[in-house]
Amino acid sequence: MAFNNKHKKPHLIFHSNVFTTLLFILAFTVPILFLILHTCTSSLCSSCVSNKVEAWSGDLRNAQFAWNRLPFPHVQSPPVVLKIAVFSRKWPIGAAPGGMERHAYTLHTALARRGHSVHVFTSPLVDNNRDHTGTPSSTSSNSPIIHCHEGEAGKWRYNKAWELFDEENRREPFDVIHSESVALPHSLARNLKNLAVSWHGIALESLQSSIYQDLTRNPNEPMSPAFNESLYGVVPKVLNEIRFFHNYNHHVAISDSCGEMLRDVYQIPRRRVHVILNGVDENGFRNDLSLGHEFRAKIGVPINGSLVLGVAGRLVKDKGHPLLYEAFSKLITKHPHVYLIVAGSGPWENRYKELGPRVQVLGSMSPSKLKAFYNAIDIFVNPTLRPQGLDLTLMEAMMSGKAVVASRFPSIKGSIVVNDEFGFMFSPNAGSLLEALEEVVREGPKRLAQRGKACQEYAASMFTASKMALAYERLFLCIKNDTFCVYP
Ligand SMILES: *[C@@H]1O[C@H](CO)[C@@H](O)[C@H](O)[C@H]1NC(C)=O
Ligand SMILES: *[C@@H]1O[C@H](CO)[C@@H](O)[C@H](O)[C@H]1NC(C)=O
Ligand SMILES: *[C@@H]1O[C@H](CO)[C@@H](O)[C@H](O)[C@H]1NC(C)=O
Repeated sequence: MAFNNKHKKPHLIFHSNVFTTLLFILAFTVPILFLILHTCTSSLCSSCVSNKVEAWSGDLRNAQFAWNRLPFPHVQSPPVVLKIAVFSRKWPIGAAPGGMERHAYTLHTALARRGHSVHVFTSPLVDNNRDHTGTPSSTSSNSPIIHCHEGEAGKWRYNKAWELFDEENRREPFDVIHSESVALPHSLARNLKNLAVSWHGIALESLQSSIYQDLTRNPNEPMSPAFNESLYGVVPKVLNEIRFFHNYNHHVAISDSCGEMLRDVYQIPRRRVHVILNGVDENGFRNDLSLGHEFRAKIGVPINGSLVLGVAGRLVKDKGHPLLYEAFSKLITKHPHVYLIVAGSGPWENRYKELGPRVQVLGSMSPSKLKAFYNAIDIFVNPTLRPQGLDLTLMEAMMSGKAVVASRFPSIKGSIVVNDEFGFMFSPNAGSLLEALEEVVREGPKRLAQRGKACQEYAASMFTASKMALAYERLFLCIKNDTFCVYP
C-alpha cells in the first residue's frame, strides 16, 4: 500500500519514488519506535511491564505510576530517623484483621523496625486480658508505641485520639502524620502540611461497586431497602468527598486507578497524589510445591490429573460468591477432574457445600494453613464485586506463584493483572466468569504453572511488605525535606 502503484510513471521516477517512500518510512518509524520505547522507560507504562524495573529519575512527586515499580536500596538504616504519628481506627492484635488494619500494622511495624519512632493513635484494643487504655504501650524499642484513647474497645473517637496526639506533639513535634483513610477527619487535617492520608477505597469506587452488585440481581428479585438506600446515598457521598479531600495535603492511592480518579475526578493537584500499592509479608507467602502436595493429599484431592481452583476471603454476596457458585456448578458438569477449594467462612459456605465432593469448604484459615492452601491450587479465583482498594488475596496468590482469575475492574487491570500472562479477567457476571473458567480448564495445570511463575516474579518485585515500607519511608522523608523527593 505504501508503494503507490496507481500512477504509471517513468521507470526512473518510480525508482526514486520508492526510494523516497522508503526514506520517508524510515525517517518516521525510527523516531516513533524510539519514542515508544522511550515512553515505556520514562513513564513505566503498564503495557510494557517487565520485572526489571527500568531506570527512572526525577522528582517523585511527578511520578504518576506506582512507586513500587522503583527499586529502593535496602540500606540498613534510614538517612534520617523520623518521628511518625499514625491515626488508625483500629490496631489489630490476634484475630483476622480487615485490609486497612492489616496495612497499618504491616507498614508501621516495618517502619519501627527500621528505627523510626512510630506512635500509633487508635481505639482501645479488642483484647480483654490487658489494660491498654491511657498509658502508651510498646513491647520493645523497635515496635510502634501504641496510644489507645479511653472508651469502649474498638470504638474510634478521633477527638480523644487527637488530644493524645496533641500532648505528644507538644513534647516533641512529629515529622510526619499518617492517617488511614478518614481516621483523622478533614477538619483536623486541613492545617497539617506534613500529613499524608492513605485511601483504602473512595466513594467513587463504592459507586462502581453498587452498580456491579445491582446488575447481578435477578429481574424478579426485589432490591433490599438497605441496598437501595446506599445506592441513592452514594452520589452525594462522592460529591462530598470531592469537596473535602483537598483539605488533606498528601494523598496515597493504593491502586493506580485510584490515583487516576484522585487526580482526574477529585481534582487533587497531581504532585500531591502518590500511588503506593499495599504489600503482603513476603515471608508468609511463597512457592512451595511439597507443601501444596501435602495439603491436597490431606483434603483428598488428587495430585495428578486434576485441576484445582481456589477462592479465599469472606463468603459474602458482594465478594462475588453468587457468580462463582453459578459458574462453577455449570463447569463441573462438563469437566469431572475440576475441583474448587474454598478458604473462608460466611453465608455462602452452605451453598458451596451443596455442590458435592468436588467443592471443599475449609472455613477460615490460619496464616500457615493459608500458605499451604495457595500452594495446593492451580489457579486463584477472585470474583469480587467490590472494586474498592485492592484485594490482598490476589497479591498473596501471585506471591505463592499462582495465576489469577479476577473481575475486570480498573484497579485490578491497572495494578495486578497488568500483563495477559498473569491470568484472566472477566466482566462481573456469571456467564463471563464461566467463559474464563472454561479457558482455564482448556489450558490445564502445566500452562497455568508457567503463568504462575511470571506472577511470582512480578509479585516479588511489586507487592512485598518491605517494598511498601521503603516507598512510604521515602514519601515521609520527602514530606520532611524536599531533597529526598529527588529520585534516585
Ligand atoms: C429506592 O429509593 C428511592 C428513594 O429513596 C425510591 O424512590 C425508590 O422507589 C426505591 N426503589 C426501590 C426499588 O426500592
Ligand atoms: C504424578 O505424576 C508425576 C509425573 O507426571 C509422577 O512422578 C508422580 O509420582 C505422580 N504422583 C502421584 C501421587 O501419582
Ligand atoms: C534537607 O536535607 C539536606 C540534605 O540532607 C540538608 O542539607 C538541609 O539542611 C535539609 N533541610 C532542612 C530544612 O532540614
